[in-house]
Amino acid sequence: SVTRHYKFDIMLQNVTRLCHTKSIVTVNGQFPGPRIVAREGDTLLIKVVNHVQNNVSIHWHGIRQLQSGWADGPAYITQCPIQTGQSYVYNYTIVGQRGTLFWHAHISWLRVTVYGPIIIRPKHNVPYPFAKPYKEVPIIFGEWFNADPEAVISQALQTGGGPNVSDAYTINGLPGPLYNCSKKDTFKLNVKPGKTYLLRFINAALNDELFFSIANHTLTVVEADAVYIKPFETQTLLITPGQTTNVLLKTKPYFPNATFLMAARPYATGSGTFDNTTVAAILEYYKSPSISQKMLPLFKPTLPPLNDTSFAANFTSRLRSLASSQYPANVPQNVDNRFFFTVGLGSNPCDQNQTCQGPNGTKFAASVNNISFVMPTKALLQSHFFGQSNGVYSPYFPINPTHWFNYTGTSPNNTMVGNGTEVLVLPFNTSVELVMQDTSILGAESHPLHLHGFNFYVVGQGFGNFDSNKDPKMFNLVDPMERNTVGVPAGGWVAIRFLADNPGVWFMHCHLEVHTSWGLKMAWLVLDGNLPNQKLPPPPADLPKC
Ligand code: C2O
Repeated sequence: SVTRHYKFDIMLQNVTRLCHTKSIVTVNGQFPGPRIVAREGDTLLIKVVNHVQNNVSIHWHGIRQLQSGWADGPAYITQCPIQTGQSYVYNYTIVGQRGTLFWHAHISWLRVTVYGPIIIRPKHNVPYPFAKPYKEVPIIFGEWFNADPEAVISQALQTGGGPNVSDAYTINGLPGPLYNCSKKDTFKLNVKPGKTYLLRFINAALNDELFFSIANHTLTVVEADAVYIKPFETQTLLITPGQTTNVLLKTKPYFPNATFLMAARPYATGSGTFDNTTVAAILEYYKSPSISQKMLPLFKPTLPPLNDTSFAANFTSRLRSLASSQYPANVPQNVDNRFFFTVGLGSNPCDQNQTCQGPNGTKFAASVNNISFVMPTKALLQSHFFGQSNGVYSPYFPINPTHWFNYTGTSPNNTMVGNGTEVLVLPFNTSVELVMQDTSILGAESHPLHLHGFNFYVVGQGFGNFDSNKDPKMFNLVDPMERNTVGVPAGGWVAIRFLADNPGVWFMHCHLEVHTSWGLKMAWLVLDGNLPNQKLPPPPADLPKC
């Protein structure tokens, strides 16, 4: 293993999409940002220098950050943001992970333009557990706003509503030919016949789960969230924001000059509030010099309908860990801490002089266990490490004594949620079972819940109310999917297990940015163990100050 150095200069860059030119925040002037490429076991030293007016911080989404919590990146959780003219070196080692992840800004809505792939190859001489691909191609989904996204989010926060709808979805930063004024901004993948390509999909979109499909081609899913899985074939992928999925694409043996459309569009359970625009890119077979250059017609894919809940449930149920001797599934078999969280949208009283768009003149608030998380003004990890939690956070995140939530399909009268900065404290190396129940009081989207600092096992999921008598008997403790982001279905629940073996403060939140902004987030505080190698080391000297 080696140490790899990167430099991220945060700078403005003019970018034109859909005939709108905007100055956007980028890394090194690139949009999407540069790729990080490393091998399992490598150490990364990434110097981030902030040349813009915004405060920034960068998160390495899905990297476990074992005992390197100071490098995790969420602003005001593990670090104060990097201010204008300042820099910070993110220093971490990739332990026991290989696959596709991504990095993104983790402050306000800056990640709309500040994101890029992380590609972790296996260690030297360790093969993939699948056919060696001829080529590897990252495909990263995003969103393009003609408006300033900071203005969009401040509107969403002030009025507690707002459309929050982007003008286009993008593939590798490009909206593709189906949008107005966008034909030339189309990602094109040129392929040779009869070869196997490894496509590394990343959903870096802000607010939408996406279906994806390539016309007339079958995809073999081999990995998700940088964890190998039992391969399976599908025509369509479903990826929530925060998730990554690797697939093998076998090109057809003889198909010169053919072009196929690949396309993605949102999935939202039961919702009519999403636009159903489609981002497209082109899969083009190399031209054969021996036959006429006349192009075949463009083949188009079919995507499931916007509300295809059963496709979504079926797709996620097919994801299984490899659970082999080389890549075991270390599912905690015994549970030390059992928790039940409600996650969902609710509403809060509206301030004076605002036009609020929630029910009965309230404003939307999102919450976990009815607490809408309030961002602190000092970083939680420093406050914890230096014993200065007073006035910054409370260690008493509300825990439901029983599984009290009963979703009846009608909105409760009182949807008011509380506010607070509360963390849930876990002793070192204890195992956790967490059931997350979507309350569906308002809104109909599922919530992609992302946990920093850990992979967890998705041991069960279902629709309706979680039943603590019946459902645990059906848990998969053998080969459940291991991942860092899981969709809690609208009106349903998900059960996860993980081992709290990583001391530090770890953010958990909905990866739909608008829900995060409304407060669908909380933090875990994992205490140090007793042994010297079970403790969080002190912070690096250049850690930004608030
Ligand atoms: Cu991908 Cu807390 O984020």
